[in-house]
Amino acid sequence: MGKRLYIETVGCQMNMLDSELVVASLRKVGYELVDSPRLADTILFNTCSVRQHAEDKIYSALGRLKHAKQQHPGKIIGVLGCMAQKDQKLIFDRAPFVDLVVGPGQLHQIPALLEEIAAGSGQRMEVSLDRTRGSRREVEESFESYDPLRDPQMRPTPYQAFVRIMIGCDKFCTYCIVPKVRGPEQSRSPRQIEMEVRRLADEGCREITLLGQTVNSYRYLEDGRMHRLCDLIERLHDVAGIDRIKFVTNYPKDMTDDLLQVVRDLPKCSHYLHVPVQSGSNPVLKRMKRGYTVEEYREMLARVRSTIPDSAVTSDFIVGFCGETDEDFQLTVDLLQEGRFKNSFIFKYSERPGTKGAELFADDVPEDVKKHRNHVLLELQSQISEEDNQHFLGRTETVLVEGPSKASQKHESDGPILQLTGRTNCDRIVVFEGNRRQIGQFLPVAIYDANAFTLFGAVVTEEVGPEVYGISLRS
Ligand code: 5AD
Ligand code: SF4
Repeated sequence: MGKRLYIETVGCQMNMLDSELVVASLRKVGYELVDSPRLADTILFNTCSVRQHAEDKIYSALGRLKHAKQQHPGKIIGVLGCMAQKDQKLIFDRAPFVDLVVGPGQLHQIPALLEEIAAGSGQRMEVSLDRTRGSRREVEESFESYDPLRDPQMRPTPYQAFVRIMIGCDKFCTYCIVPKVRGPEQSRSPRQIEMEVRRLADEGCREITLLGQTVNSYRYLEDGRMHRLCDLIERLHDVAGIDRIKFVTNYPKDMTDDLLQVVRDLPKCSHYLHVPVQSGSNPVLKRMKRGYTVEEYREMLARVRSTIPDSAVTSDFIVGFCGETDEDFQLTVDLLQEGRFKNSFIFKYSERPGTKGAELFADDVPEDVKKHRNHVLLELQSQISEEDNQHFLGRTETVLVEGPSKASQKHESDGPILQLTGRTNCDRIVVFEGNRRQIGQFLPVAIYDANAFTLFGAVVTEEVGPEVYGISLRS
């Protein structure tokens, strides 16, 4: 039986975490990870359905494997994640040589399914119930939170880990496929989450990022009391060894004062908040069914800034949503200008079959207009990011060192000094010179240059007491 595994992951941080867990469960039963599909007996794609483009890329990657499968019929090819849940049998129709289709709520079944396929079962598919095909409880039960084993080698660095605190989404923004493919919103038990974080800390992890589609809507009744995100953060803040806590993605309406105060008052909390606004026009927000007005978003942003003055807020924008006029777009430009986001992720609207948006509204903004609007926002954001990054010149920031920078990875240097990269408390990327032993440490870095995406600095070498930086400087 084939035991060499290749996995390709597209999409969000949830998918990166899911892939880590799938690999961990397969390593446990003897698989080894290889870094090319050619070397693998089992090839898995963990897929994304948020935009058409992501799906097209997977279908063409599958198309390229057709020949390999003809030549090596024993190779097992699997499609996991959001596109598996969305397209289901259609995947077998479009790519008949695929052996396995597994939705994001069924990933725990993968080791057993692969074994059955290897034993000759033929094609297998395991997906969760469609949200219209059962009671809330039945549908909830068909989506399993999948968080058994971890695999530090699959993470970008062993010092950083994603921790899922909830699955699914109940907001049903009209453009979004996530509530359909990732199922009903379900929070995980604080006790279980704490156990997982303690284990990560024991393995040497120093930074955790709590994950949820609407992470600040977290609610879980345990031991007779309701736990919200702020309560959970307070609890995880006590875990020794964990020195930085982040959480994504926030829903604007659930950005409560008590959460902001916890972020301000607890020193391990990163002052980085991703709170997508999507559009600066009220009629568009209404059609998107986002549940807030531009005025309410502005008020929320003002509260964030007055409570945590040094916070870095980032946002997502969709351009060219159904019926978006030049006036609507101008309002978005105004909001982006005024919002001074650290960074904005800008997407062209992509109609998703199965969403309310596709059912109710025509995708009527021409592609070239979408492209132009995308470009305008990107340019403006880049200018703002560059300007705001200049404020860091001359400042010393605490950086968690993640590893060699992209440039030094390319020129594989064996010397003691190499270019390193890491992030500040407000999630800004910093590049500086250092040595391998510094990877995984929190270090003070003096910033001397900056562009829109990166700060450049030098490690401050004199003895500094931990109290200066609010965290322990382990060596
Ligand atoms: N088209 C374009 N962008 C989308 N997003 C979600 N659905 C769509 C879609 N159909 C964007 C939103 C969201 C981010 C993760 O992806 O901006 O915040
Ligand atoms: Fe999609 Fe809206 Fe849920 Fe985010 S909050 S996952 S955009 S439905």
